[in-house]
Parts: sequence; C-alpha cells; structure tokens
Amino acid sequence: MNIKTYLSNQKAVVERALEQYMLVADGPFAAHFEAMRYSLFAGGKRLRPILCLAAGQAVSGETDNSENLLPIACALECIHTYSLIHDDLPAMDDDDLRRGKATNHVLYGEAGAILAGDGLLTYAFDLLSNERLGNLDAARRLKIINIIARAAGPEGMVGGQALDIASENTSYPFEVLQTIHRNKTGALITGSIQAGAIASHCSEDELRQLTAYGDNVGLAFQIIDDLLDATATTEELGKTAGSDEERGKATYPAYFGIEKTRSLARQAVDRALESLTGFDNQAEPLRALARYIYTRGN
Ligand code: IPE
Ligand code: IPE
Ligand code: MG
Ligand code: MG
Ligand code: MG
Repeated sequence: MNIKTYLSNQKAVVERALEQYMLVADGPFAAHFEAMRYSLFAGGKRLRPILCLAAGQAVSGETDNSENLLPIACALECIHTYSLIHDDLPAMDDDDLRRGKATNHVLYGEAGAILAGDGLLTYAFDLLSNERLGNLDAARRLKIINIIARAAGPEGMVGGQALDIASENTSYPFEVLQTIHRNKTGALITGSIQAGAIASHCSEDELRQLTAYGDNVGLAFQIIDDLLDATATTEELGKTAGSDEERGKATYPAYFGIEKTRSLARQAVDRALESLTGFDNQAEPLRALARYIYTRGN
C-alpha cells in the first residue's frame, strides 16, 4: 500500500469529522472557541486518530467503520492538540512555533491558551460520552472512556510531561528517560489504538497484541521526535529545531547520540511489527504506519 496516499486520505476523513463535531466560533464563547479551533485546524498529521481507525480496521476488516470510530478519533485529536498548546506555554517548553504557525499563547495570550487547552481536553470527554455519537453499547463506551482518561492522565501523558519538566538539566538514568517517553507520548498513542480496537469489538488476545504494537510505535514516535529536533530544520518541522538541547531536555540523542538513537527507534518499530504477526493483511495499514513513524521527516 502507498502510505502517502493512505495518510492523506485518512487525514481528510479525520478533518471532515473534526469540522462536523467541533464547536463553531459563535455566541458568547466565540473567542474561546476560536482559540480552540485555531490550534485544532492548524494542520497536524492526525496520527492518533489515524492509528485509532487503523486499529479498528485491523480487528474488523472494515475500512469504513467510521460511525463508531470517528467521534473517538476526534476526541483523541482534541486531547493531543490540548497537550501541544500546554506543552508550548512559556512555563513549559516556551515555544512560539507549532504546525508552522504561531503557538496558541502567542496569539491568544497565556490565559487564553490555557483555557483553549482546558476546553479541548474537556470537550474530548463530551464527544466520548455523548450517546448520540456512535453506536456503542454502554459498557464498551465506558471502557473506552476509562482507557483514554488513563492514557491522558497523571499515570500517562500528564505524568510523563511532569517528569519531562522535572528532568530538564539534570542527569537521569535511562529508566527515567524511557518512562518520560513511554508516558508523555507513548501512552496516548497506545490508548488511541486500544480505543479503536475495543470500539471494533476486538478479542482479549487481539487487544494484547495491539497494546504491544502501540507501546512500541509510541516509544519509536517520541524517539524519532527527539531525533528530528536534533537533525531537521525548523522549516521541515514546523516547530523550532534544536529546542530540546537548548532547554536541557532528557532525550534519546542527548543520552545515546544520533546513530544509536536511530537504531533504538528501528528496534522499537521492529518489535511493533512483530506484535502484529497474528494479524493478516487487515493490519497492513498499521504495519505501514509503523514504518512511516521511523522514516517520517516531520
Ligand atoms: C508532537 O506530536 C508532539 C509529540 C507527542 C511528539 P505530532 O508530531 O503528532 O504533532 P502533530 O499533531 O503532527 O502536529
Ligand atoms: C511533547 O513532547 C509531548 C506532549 C505530550 C505534547 P515534546 O515537547 O518533545 O513535543 P514537541 O517537540 O514540542 O512537539
Ligand atoms: Mg515538551
Ligand atoms: Mg515541546
Ligand atoms: Mg519534541
């Protein structure tokens, strides 16, 4: 399969759904909704929603299971976008460029950006719990909400972000570096895959294999993010290159150097591919996505 075509088709599917589900900047909260929309529609890769849809396809074989999956996919992108808005704040990574545009707080101020993030995070749980969206039984819906809450929360993404900030300019053991990466980025990626699989009625065994896939592509994704920060240009990235070194971040290139980092990312992708050996060609998009995560340029 052609990954480029696949990604651009799936991205279009996700963006149509985001347009459909996202609040319109109108009424008394128009300025707040506008700040949320600014970052949400700034042009991300939509990787977490795409992984969610691909996990659904790996389980059900259906390429269009969108009625159930798209509200979940959109909720994941809302959570991810919130995490980026807060990640860029002056009190965190203090970045002024994201997705090739000014960061949210540059345009809407710090309070506006904090609230845009809060709005996106909370709205995600509105999308997930709204019984008019998707055709999921209550038990399955609850399980998905819990998985995503845990992935995004203090024992997942937020915990990883806290450890990332606490580790700036410190010397840290490898276990801490790995914990940061598995949590700040890996957790939501794994949660996206699990949510897509559960919405598509996966078995326990399928869930176990897809979780192993998610853990490995999630880790690989952040290792490559670190590598790109150290080796690509600001123009290629749409975010400021070299910012990790400047801020004394705990990263794979800082710990291992560029070459070893590349090979550790490759190993994680290989482990992800191995986790899918029990799946037939319905999992081809997941395989192509794992390879793409290693070869991507932004
Ligand atoms: C960037 O994520 C932040 C990390 C978790 C590494 P992406 O690289 O998926 O960012 P967008 O959504 O495409 O902008
Ligand atoms: C961010 O990690 C992880 C998030 C949960 C947002 P980074 O700080 O490395 O992400 P970028 O490089 O700013 O996108
Ligand atoms: Mg950060
Ligand atoms: Mg950052
Ligand atoms: Mg980074």
